[in-house]
Amino acid sequence: MNQQEHWDKVYSTKGPAELSWYQQQPGISLSFFRDLSISKDAAIIDIGGGDSKLVDFLLEEGYTDITVLDISEMALEKSKQRLGPKAMQVNWVVTDINSFQSNKKFDVWHDRAVLHFLTEQSERKNYLDTANRYLNANAKIIIGTFSDKGPDKCSGLPVKKYSESSLSDFLKKYFKKIKCIYIDHITPFKTVQNFLFCSFLKTN
Ligand SMILES: C[S@@+](CC[C@H](N)C(=O)[O-])C[C@H]1O[C@@H](n2cnc3c(N)ncnc32)[C@H](O)[C@@H]1O
Repeated sequence: MNQQEHWDKVYSTKGPAELSWYQQQPGISLSFFRDLSISKDAAIIDIGGGDSKLVDFLLEEGYTDITVLDISEMALEKSKQRLGPKAMQVNWVVTDINSFQSNKKFDVWHDRAVLHFLTEQSERKNYLDTANRYLNANAKIIIGTFSDKGPDKCSGLPVKKYSESSLSDFLKKYFKKIKCIYIDHITPFKTVQNFLFCSFLKTN
């Protein structure tokens, strides 16, 4: 089964509260948006947004330029269904981040629990170059990934875990660390996953 099939199967067979990464409210992500004073007209892209409610909350807070990207069309369909007519205010992109191309540049790159699936060095290098290519000057990155104390797998797939220093090191070619926090995510099954959330500023 390839990656797209894996994720479409996950989203077509499980409800939101059966997914370990499910959050009723993406509180940490939203707190980073507030801390960074992201302007309401900033071009925001949520990488691997899945059927996360981040987009709902961003719309609610008045953000006007939101793109949600995911490898799974099924995931984005679920989000569109949930949002109803508001879905028309969002740009939806079905693609693998490994082959993402865009005519548009962004001011904010948000990624919760996607980077950690890139276990090959070539994929990580491509991710970094893609973020740099499609982000404007002074853009911000907000990344949440399994920390070095987090689980070894997510959705049954192996992950690469990060510490504050290894994530900063990974991004340092183009991005400077602003802030990092470690946070426990309690899954719907009441297990604990330690996440690292960091923000970065584009430096070139
Ligand atoms: C663990 S889930 C997190 C979903 C969402 N960010 C959240 O916080 O609820 C990972 C998401 O990344 C997507 N994904 C996995 N690999 C991807 C890839 N190579 N390119 C784009 N999306 C990917 C999956 O379909 C899934 O929606």
